[in-house]
Amino acid sequence: MNSSQTEVVEVTSASEDDTERFGAAIGGALRGGQRIGLRGDLGAGKTCLVRGIAAGLQIEDGIVRSPSFPVILPYEGGRLPLYHIDLFRQAQGAGDIEELREYLYGDGIAAVEWYERLAEPMVDYLSIVLTFVAKESRSLVVAACGVGYDPVLAALRKLS
Ligand SMILES: Nc1ncnc2c1ncn2[C@@H]1O[C@H](COP(=O)(O)OP(=O)(O)OP(=O)(O)O)[C@@H](O)[C@H]1O
Ligand SMILES: [Mg+2]
Repeated sequence: MNSSQTEVVEVTSASEDDTERFGAAIGGALRGGQRIGLRGDLGAGKTCLVRGIAAGLQIEDGIVRSPSFPVILPYEGGRLPLYHIDLFRQAQGAGDIEELREYLYGDGIAAVEWYERLAEPMVDYLSIVLTFVAKESRSLVVAACGVGYDPVLAALRKLS
């Protein structure tokens, strides 16, 4: 396997709870030193999914909001540390990679909303694209853009 996109799983969420359940399945299958790149319009459910990922990592003080200032909120105390990053307020290319590198490429999990605004493209990550289908329905397209994400895709496939 190389670092290009290898596999894709598409699931449909019918509710916020459903999205959190998908997140929990993802969180439960993560092994550390991994990145989740979240893409989707405002309100698509990126933060909701990260809340589920936190639960799946057994992080007890759950995510209630998206980080805007500071752009990174760390959650320790779970199976692995989770770094929730949101670059929405950064101009394209302004997401200072030097400040974020240790979190992005450390031993924990970095979940990044608006990662396309990073000054340097993220590498080796799980790409998740959320799109609106109907009022409470969302499509989640999950793709491995790197190695080591097969257990996550397998966990999602079981739920779909
Ligand atoms: N199936 C669903 N999955 C997730 N959220 C849903 C769903 N249906 C409705 N919602 C609602 O959509 C909103 C999603 O908000 P959330 O903060 O997770 O979005 P976001 O993608 O992080 O937005 P932003 O770009 O502003 O950070 C919530 O108000 C939630 O209740
Ligand atoms: Mg958000």
